[in-house]
Amino acid sequence: MAVKVSRHCYNILSRRYASVLPKCDFIPNKKVTAALHKQIDTLWHTTNIYRHPQIYEYVEKLTAKFPGDLKVVYLVNSGTEANDLAILLAKSYTGNHDVISLQSSYHGYSSVMIGLTAQQSYRTPLPVPAGIHHVQTGFGRTGDAFWGFESHGVVPDIVTLAKGIGNGFPLAAVVTTKEIAQAHAKATYFNTFGGNPMASAVGKAVLEVIDEENLQQNCKETGKYFIEQLMALQKVYPVIGDVRGKGLMLAIEMVEPGTKDPLNKPDFANILEMIKDSGVLIGTGGRWGNVLRIKPPMCINKDDVNFAMSVLDQSLNSYSKNLKNVN
Ligand SMILES: Cc1ncc(COP(=O)(O)O)c(C=O)c1O
Repeated sequence: MAVKVSRHCYNILSRRYASVLPKCDFIPNKKVTAALHKQIDTLWHTTNIYRHPQIYEYVEKLTAKFPGDLKVVYLVNSGTEANDLAILLAKSYTGNHDVISLQSSYHGYSSVMIGLTAQQSYRTPLPVPAGIHHVQTGFGRTGDAFWGFESHGVVPDIVTLAKGIGNGFPLAAVVTTKEIAQAHAKATYFNTFGGNPMASAVGKAVLEVIDEENLQQNCKETGKYFIEQLMALQKVYPVIGDVRGKGLMLAIEMVEPGTKDPLNKPDFANILEMIKDSGVLIGTGGRWGNVLRIKPPMCINKDDVNFAMSVLDQSLNSYSKNLKNVN
């Protein structure tokens, strides 16, 4: 149980963990916390029917980060809600109801999003707009660009933002073009909490911190260092089938040593447990659940990487030794 998070996570027994976990990638930042405090002391809430300056200042900063005609923002409270709204906009604009999503993907926990998750993926796709969502790949995390899509030479019609957008505060957004928003304008859009002044103050401070602390560049440099270390580790341990990723969004695919088959579940769980017991929290994923997902706070440095690497090395070393003893 995580009870306190500073630069690291602490459990109820004050045991310290370094987080490279996908779901624990937010750590308190003084500037963001101060912006929230200031807003809490002023005004917690007004719905989006009132024009609070904090919301406009934030949206101006956010849209400045986007290329092309992506200038209309809907502020919501979660990634699920953002993806739901994006689908609604796409349907209103195209008049089509079919949606394509990728195998093993996750888009949120609502009835619509669950329908798009995992195996429910192969439906007639066109001409739904090329909506791309950035719940995890945005805000400079991939290093080369502020938004993941920018590395692929495309400008999507709709982008959804969540997770890092509020550094752990409930905030998410849908960004689209005027033309697409217009197609949905017949219906009144209302959201009680979406983009309230507290969330907007946090979102604005997050963008400022990312720029001021050069976090995108840090993701690029520290991410390059991290993946190089992981690739070196892959040469030592045949249980590592693949190492991939960009910036500070990395993955280690675990296989039955010397094959391309997913590592069996008990061994995978065992390795994960050893990593945790040595003080590193790490996420899992992949179609067969055999992938270690590394998505740490964007401000980690080489010392943090070195610590995580020594824990990975130690855990894989114990695993390999045990394997030899069994065989
Ligand atoms: C890729 C992706 N999309 C959507 C979501 C849903 O976001 P939320 O939990 O904020 O509703 C998540 C959450 O884990 C996610 O990882």
